[in-house]
Amino acid sequence: MRIGILGSGLMGAKLGTIWARAGHEVVFSYARSEQKLKKLARDARGNARAGTPGEAAREAAALLLAVHWSRIDDVLKQAGDVSGKVIVSCSLPMNADDTDLVIAHTSSGAEALAKRFPKARVVSAFNTVPSEVLFGVFEARRKASRPSLMYCGDDARSKKIAAELIRDVGFDPVDAGPLRIARYTEPFALLVAQLAYEGDEGPELAYRFERFGK
Ligand SMILES: NC(=O)c1ccc[n+]([C@@H]2O[C@H](COP(=O)([O-])OP(=O)(O)OC[C@H]3O[C@@H](n4cnc5c(N)ncnc54)[C@H](OP(=O)(O)O)[C@@H]3O)[C@@H](O)[C@H]2O)c1
Repeated sequence: MRIGILGSGLMGAKLGTIWARAGHEVVFSYARSEQKLKKLARDARGNARAGTPGEAAREAAALLLAVHWSRIDDVLKQAGDVSGKVIVSCSLPMNADDTDLVIAHTSSGAEALAKRFPKARVVSAFNTVPSEVLFGVFEARRKASRPSLMYCGDDARSKKIAAELIRDVGFDPVDAGPLRIARYTEPFALLVAQLAYEGDEGPELAYRFERFGK
């Protein structure tokens, strides 16, 4: 499928590269240097190119939103009309110095995003794992036991697309329900970040849910 990457930093660059290698058509956009976007597209060694956010959004089956919370309005303005677009967002509503959530408990970044762009189809995904683990998960995708990855959203068709993209990275998609569940998954993402970055075993960390009932 055609995927537009809005924000080609730690998350966007890696996920875009993985999807290009998994056979998707990827347009990398929104970095401070066009050279960086072009290099990413070259290094992805798949069907990838650099473009503007508008080009990334055009005819995309899915958009990955991977920018700092403070850049959301800017990148989506540059993307143009996102009515009907599937926006898979890994963005967390963090404050300027990335120490805390600015929306939590009674709402979430994903819900605020959907409210701001009501005609877009927002799915919250990929925000509960550190970028450092993504290539490792992709490399291990043929192993029997995959790590989980939670996602949530209100639109069934968009969630199906998100689940496919999650599977393509090498995770086992876990449907956490409607978009309002992002108010629980986003704080969980900070717990994962704590374990990833504050421990001494490195940030290459993923998680797995196991069910023991019938
Ligand atoms: N990193 C993680 O492990 C992780 C995990 C879970 C969730 N998240 C969330 O995912 C989102 C993306 O995180 P990230 O770590 O990938 O962020 P990041 O590395 O800072 O990437 C953000 C991208 O936006 C671009 N950008 C910033 N300001 C810009 C401007 N003025 N004009 C054009 N481009 C601009 C950056 O450009 P440059 O490439 O030039 O810097 C970069 O490509 C955040 O909301 C974060 O909270 C991150």
